[in-house]
Amino acid sequence: MYEIIEKEELGASIKLIKIQAPLVAAKALAGQFVILRVHEEGERIPVTIADFDRAEGTITCVFQEVGRTTKELGTFEAGDCLKDFVGPLGVPSHIQNYGRVACVGGGVGVAPVYPIARALKEAGNEIISIIGARTKDLIFWEDRMRAVSDELLAATDDGSYGRKGFVTDLLKEIIEDKGIDLCLAIGPLPMMRAVSDLTRRYGVKTVVSINTLMVDGTGMCGCCRVTVGGETRFTCVDGPEFDGHEVDFIELARRSAVYKTQEKVSLDLYEE
Ligand code: FES
Repeated sequence: MYEIIEKEELGASIKLIKIQAPLVAAKALAGQFVILRVHEEGERIPVTIADFDRAEGTITCVFQEVGRTTKELGTFEAGDCLKDFVGPLGVPSHIQNYGRVACVGGGVGVAPVYPIARALKEAGNEIISIIGARTKDLIFWEDRMRAVSDELLAATDDGSYGRKGFVTDLLKEIIEDKGIDLCLAIGPLPMMRAVSDLTRRYGVKTVVSINTLMVDGTGMCGCCRVTVGGETRFTCVDGPEFDGHEVDFIELARRSAVYKTQEKVSLDLYEE
């Protein structure tokens, strides 16, 4: 059992939990994820590692309550235990000195961007962070992101915080004003697709982190497959990061919605 030692509400339906998992923390690197189960009957869900502390032996995860499992997870408090917590899984982010890097986080995607931005900053990159959300209530970790960035910009769809508009509006300005050597984008699929479409026009290499349905997380079941550059790749062992210009986002969106009906039934039953 894996004890939650800290819990925090970061925004509307966005929650942080810090889990005591020393073996996972000992090996965790930026860009990796864990698969957890809340209890014996629970489904397995992948959650990207938002932070880790080797000395403390903890992993920090941030999630948004959207379905049955994340809503159930949201009821867990400090002192409660998770049934399973497997990781670190996936290929860590490739960290090197690229030069100027735009780190784009949309919604809850800001959390997984943070440790990668930190590692890229430590590797000597100039970091320009762009964080975005639908509304101010969903903006979080601006302070953390600012601490690892040379510049930070924010946007909200409704203009309640930062620039009114999308992260792509700010990214376009940065590319045209200063130029960037790499773009990292993590967030909802439409956002990562829009960022990739934009940077393709400017020839800027773009890395996205894909969060698909997963079961085993070890390359055996195939449910996390995604088409990248015309080839089938497994998000759990080949990813979660891929070249955004090569990802088939249309197929990915279709696959991500394949259990929508069942997910709604499950959530309705849970909330009854
Ligand atoms: Fe089963 Fe990736 S989750 S192969």
